[in-house]
Amino acid sequence: MLLLGVNIDHAATVRQARYRLADQANDPAVEPDPVALAMAAERAGADGITIHLREDRRHIQEHDVWRARGTIATRLNLEMSCTPAMTEFALRLKPDSVCLVPENRTEVTTEGGLDIVGNRDRVQATIEAMNAAGISTSLFIDPEPEQIELGAKLRAPWIELHTGAYANSYYTPRRAAELARLRHGAELGHRCGLTVNAGHGINYVNIAEVRTLPHLHELNIGHSIISRALFTGIEEAVREMKARMNP
Ligand code: PXP
Repeated sequence: MLLLGVNIDHAATVRQARYRLADQANDPAVEPDPVALAMAAERAGADGITIHLREDRRHIQEHDVWRARGTIATRLNLEMSCTPAMTEFALRLKPDSVCLVPENRTEVTTEGGLDIVGNRDRVQATIEAMNAAGISTSLFIDPEPEQIELGAKLRAPWIELHTGAYANSYYTPRRAAELARLRHGAELGHRCGLTVNAGHGINYVNIAEVRTLPHLHELNIGHSIISRALFTGIEEAVREMKARMNP
């Protein structure tokens, strides 16, 4: 059974487009509430909720994360950059898991995997701090052998393979090669003893192929579910994705 983590950042993106300057924590007129959306996603079968507290606070705000911590009944997965400030925040929050991602202020979304080879010391320190606090760490990495092998060596329990290059190549001749790269990455991760997740750019069409990748535990999906929810509501959007993940 493939699990679904629903990324609710885009609900906050819509809210921020209108209410960036409002007192969001205390003004009942401010909408939509990403945490209420998360609860509806859970009711429809989401196995976990993922939120990304970015350094630039462009969508999710700290009060969202604290409210989510108090209300999410499944699992709260905090995506975060690998910095001392975010590590300190996560240790106070105590989410069920953290996913370490790269952050670049000019990017539209998380555009590449975290280079854990190039940032080994910082990544290692964060994993050790999380392990000591009983918080599972996932590493959002490209499906590259040296990244995956180092993830296992640093004793991260999970990796999340970046499926963005595959998703972007879906209507191009590169698609089969990108899918094969993910397959080899998932096989290697599994051989190294890692729990293998995947995410980024997964939608209601490419899920038919993504779900055939071996050893996958959980998919983290945001944009396509929130987009569909505009037409169907979040509960139907979550149910439909879960049905396609596990037909
Ligand atoms: N996984 C990670 C680590 C991400 O950074 C994101 C985007 O925030 C996602 C999954 C979800 O990607 P998408 O919104 O394209 O489904």
